[in-house]
Amino acid sequence: MIKIAVMGYGTIGSGVVKVIETNQESIRRKVGDGIEVKYVLDLREFEGDPIQKKIVHDYKTIAEDEEIRIVVETMGGVEPANTFVKAMLLAGKSVTTSNKALVAAHGAELIAIAEEKNVNFMFEASVGGGIPIIRALNSCLTADKIEEISGIVNGTTNYMMTRMEEDGCEFDDVLKEAQEKGYAEKDPTADIEGYDAGRKIAILTSLVAGQQVDFEDVHTEGIRKITAADIRYAKKMNRRIKLLATSRLTGGTYHVMVAPFLLPEEHPLYTVNGVFNAVFVHGNMLGDAMFYGSGAGSLPTASAVVADVVELAKHIGKHIALEWRPEKLEIADYRQQTGRFFVRAAAEKQAVGEVFGDVEFVAADVPQAAGETAFITGEMKEADYMEKAEKLGGVIQMIRYR
Ligand code: HSE
Repeated sequence: MIKIAVMGYGTIGSGVVKVIETNQESIRRKVGDGIEVKYVLDLREFEGDPIQKKIVHDYKTIAEDEEIRIVVETMGGVEPANTFVKAMLLAGKSVTTSNKALVAAHGAELIAIAEEKNVNFMFEASVGGGIPIIRALNSCLTADKIEEISGIVNGTTNYMMTRMEEDGCEFDDVLKEAQEKGYAEKDPTADIEGYDAGRKIAILTSLVAGQQVDFEDVHTEGIRKITAADIRYAKKMNRRIKLLATSRLTGGTYHVMVAPFLLPEEHPLYTVNGVFNAVFVHGNMLGDAMFYGSGAGSLPTASAVVADVVELAKHIGKHIALEWRPEKLEIADYRQQTGRFFVRAAAEKQAVGEVFGDVEFVAADVPQAAGETAFITGEMKEADYMEKAEKLGGVIQMIRYR
C-alpha cells in the first residue's frame, strides 16, 4: 500500500479523497498497488466527519513520516504552501499540486529540488482543471516547437460570459452563481481581473520555452469592463467575447497576453462555453490541436491531481526530466503585438476615418449606444492603436478582434 498525505481539505483536497475512495480498485490496477490517504493537513478539526481521524495540524508530522512517499498540495496561495512543499521534496517525497500561484511563482525552483532529491514535482491540475494539458506538453508534444498556445483557462469568467450572453444576467449575479458552484477563487478578483489566467499562461509558456516566464510580465486585462452593450454588439457581429490567455512565438520572442477577445464562429474556441476550458496548441510539425474539458470544480480538478498521484506512484525512485530553467525569459512588450481592434467611441464617423483610415463600421442598434460610433480597425500594433485612440478621444470601449 502506498501511503500519501493531502495538505488542505478544501474544495479540491476533499475531491482528491473522494476520487481515491470512489475509484480505489481501478487506481490499484493502474498503479499495481493501493493508494491510502494516511494524513490530511488542515487547520480545522472536521468534528464528526470520518476524515477527522486523519487530520493533522503540523506539516512536519508528514515530512518526518518515512512511510509517506507522495504528498498532495491543495491549499492554494504561495505561502505557506511553498514552505510545506519544499519541506516534503527535501524529505524525499514526491509532490503534486493544483496550486497555480505556487507553480507560477516557484515552479522552476521546486522542479530543481525534486531533481536533486530524485523525486518528482507534478502540477497537472494547476492549468485547465481536469484537462491533461501539462502532461501533453511535457510528454506528447516534445517533438514539436510550440508556436502558439491560446486558451480559455478560467472557468469562472467563461461561465460568467456565457451566462451573461445566454440570459442577459447581471455581472454580480453570475459571479455569485459561479462562487456557489465552487468555480471561483476565494478572492474572485484573481478570476475577474485575469490574474488566474495570467498565472496559467505564464506556466504554459514557461513549459514550452523551457525557462521561467514571470506572470507579472504578462499584460493582463479582465472582464469587469465588459457590458451588456458589448455583448449585443458581439452578437450583431456573430462573435463571442472570450477571456483569452494567449502566447505566440513571433520573431524568436514570446508575445503573451490575457484579455477579452471577440472571436468569430469559425474560431475553435468560440464554442467553448460555461465552465469548460480549452487550450489550442499550434506546433511547427503537429499543426493544430485542441484540448477541451472541465476546467474548474472539485472533482474534475481532483481527477487531474489523482492522475498525478498515479504517475508519481509509478515512478517512485525515478526522477522524470522536465525542462523549466529558473533564468527569467524576457517576453515581448505587449504594445508591439499586432491585431485588429473593435472600438466604441463618442466620435463622428468622419473623425474616425481621419484618424484610423479604413475601418469597418458596425451599426449601432444597441439602445445604450446612442451618439457613439462603433468600428473595427485594420491590423496594427497595440502601440499605434493607443496613439490613434488618444488622438480620436471619447473611446468608450476597446475589445481585441481575432
Ligand atoms: N478559479 C479557477 C477557474 C479555478 O475558474 O478556472 C481553476 O483553476
